[in-house]
Amino acid sequence: MCKNKATIFAFFSVVRNASFYLGSNVNLICSNELRSEVMYVLWNIDLKYKRCSIAHNNDGQSEDSCNDGKSLRYTPTAVYLHIPNFSNDDVGVYRCETVYRGGADAHMINVEITAPPSISAWLEWKGNKMVAVCKAERGKPAASISWSHLENSSSLETWSGSDGFFTVESHLELPENMDPKNLSCTVRHPYWEEEKTLVPKFTATRLHFTMMCICIVVIIIAVLAGILFFAKKKLRCCGVAGR
Ligand SMILES: *[C@@H]1O[C@H](CO)[C@@H](O)[C@H](O)[C@H]1NC(C)=O
Ligand SMILES: *[C@@H]1O[C@H](CO)[C@@H](O)[C@H](O)[C@H]1NC(C)=O
Ligand SMILES: *[C@@H]1O[C@H](CO)[C@@H](O)[C@H](O)[C@H]1NC(C)=O
Repeated sequence: MCKNKATIFAFFSVVRNASFYLGSNVNLICSNELRSEVMYVLWNIDLKYKRCSIAHNNDGQSEDSCNDGKSLRYTPTAVYLHIPNFSNDDVGVYRCETVYRGGADAHMINVEITAPPSISAWLEWKGNKMVAVCKAERGKPAASISWSHLENSSSLETWSGSDGFFTVESHLELPENMDPKNLSCTVRHPYWEEEKTLVPKFTATRLHFTMMCICIVVIIIAVLAGILFFAKKKLRCCGVAGR
């Protein structure tokens, strides 16, 4: 029933792009016709890993090959596709066709996601230079990073995973005489209303590692000193005995 009508429309009267926040509940509208006028709705959905469709007509017949929580919903004034808890799996091309009394609509919507990166900042040693690092992991689109000081001596690296998420990392080499206390980086992303500011510090694990190294060195020195002490003592004793 539904599939035959899918071929009626050779073009899409409306093509638009939309981006939705990770975790949001999305309603996609296909036509501005009143619910009472709509006779038939079909959504053909092209996702990264599957193609599926959801349709409904006035006789109460419906089909859903998506089976992932998407559903057609009706209000007195509209018919729309509801996508709960929007995620990267819902990114794709959504084509819909509506037949109503007196006409038809066909829309094509390129659907993207806006997802926030996870952010971190730290200090590390590179040779004898102190380097501040600011990182925004797996955001979509890519986050932007800026520094409170010395912006022009920072280097930026961006890479993207196969799933389209971006990781951005900025390295800032600090001059020898600079106190890193006042240095901060600012990360901006469309998911956040406000920018986020981080102060890079030596991280606990790096600190622990350094402490552990120092401990091991101290223990080794102590053991060596002990061996030397006893060896000397023994030498002295045997030397005496030998005389
Ligand atoms: C939304 O999806 C994420 C994982 O995709 C899950 O962890 C979370 O609990 C879901 N939220 C709701 C309200 O269903
Ligand atoms: C960065 O800019 C400052 C002035 O704004 C300038 O003094 C400095 O030489 C610049 N450093 C580099 C590496 O371009
Ligand atoms: C750091 O900031 C404080 C005030 O916030 C200022 O008094 C101090 O001079 C700054 N230090 C450096 C190294 O910029």
